[in-house]
Amino acid sequence: MQSEVIQQYEFNFTNEHFRKIKTVLYAHAGIVLADHKKDMAFNRLVRRIRELNLRSFDQYLAYIESDINEFSLFINAMTTNLTAFFRESHHFDFIGNTILPQLALSGKRRLRIWSAGCSLGEEPYSLVMQLLNSNIDLSNWDVRILATDIDSNVLDLARTGVYPQAKVETLPKGYLNKYFLKGCGSQAGSVRARPELGEMITFKYLNLMEEWPMKGPFDFIFCRNVMIYFDKKTQAKLLEKMAALLKTDGHLFVGHSETLARHDNHFTSLGKTIYQKDSRGD
Ligand SMILES: C[S@@+](CC[C@H](N)C(=O)[O-])C[C@H]1O[C@@H](n2cnc3c(N)ncnc32)[C@H](O)[C@@H]1O
Repeated sequence: MQSEVIQQYEFNFTNEHFRKIKTVLYAHAGIVLADHKKDMAFNRLVRRIRELNLRSFDQYLAYIESDINEFSLFINAMTTNLTAFFRESHHFDFIGNTILPQLALSGKRRLRIWSAGCSLGEEPYSLVMQLLNSNIDLSNWDVRILATDIDSNVLDLARTGVYPQAKVETLPKGYLNKYFLKGCGSQAGSVRARPELGEMITFKYLNLMEEWPMKGPFDFIFCRNVMIYFDKKTQAKLLEKMAALLKTDGHLFVGHSETLARHDNHFTSLGKTIYQKDSRGD
């Protein structure tokens, strides 16, 4: 006898609802939601249905199409924002040991960085800490980090620079005291990045699927653990656009599980998910 597992939902959540969610999410954000993510979609969206006192997914899906703010909240709910300070630390070592010394030798005193899909800000704040801790004195350099994301909620949190204590426990030794202020009273248990960390960063909303207003060129781009959510066609388009925004010999850093297609003619792999703009791609 064939057994059938029937998932019981508090609100009727059909395959058709899930298909619609997948279509809308892909069309707006390029995110491909795998079939096994149906429960995840239900769990993330049902909270909002309750808060709005709606009676069904039909009502909710009609609502997000008619209300732009609710649509943003839908996108925020459907993004995955997992991140950490100094995630994939070899990328930060490469900046300190290779990129900065090369730039210093070239005599340039200008550094432009893009953290694309910056989530809650740990990535750009880690970049600033790495720069401030390098052997190169950057005090008279013009350094700017553009940190963008499609999720307005994580951007708001990133701008505050406030993190739960548990998030900063993995920071390199000494960094916590040097770069964060401990919260007290009602803020006990959280820390706040010191203002000088935020000074180099501009947090901005940017949907990678839409037009990119910035001109570049960037010395390097971090786009880590973002393109995993996109299909090959979208990835290829984004890589082409990123190559165009990078300086000649500029670097692209991607996530640990991401590899650029072998036939990609924009970048050369330097190993460990670090790529260098290929002059053939100019
Ligand atoms: C898993 S997090 C990666 C954070 C960080 N880069 C890291 O590696 O730790 C992925 C981020 O990509 C963002 N994202 C997803 N689709 C996007 C899009 N179309 N445009 C811009 N950001 C997007 C999500 O909102 C999320 O914050």
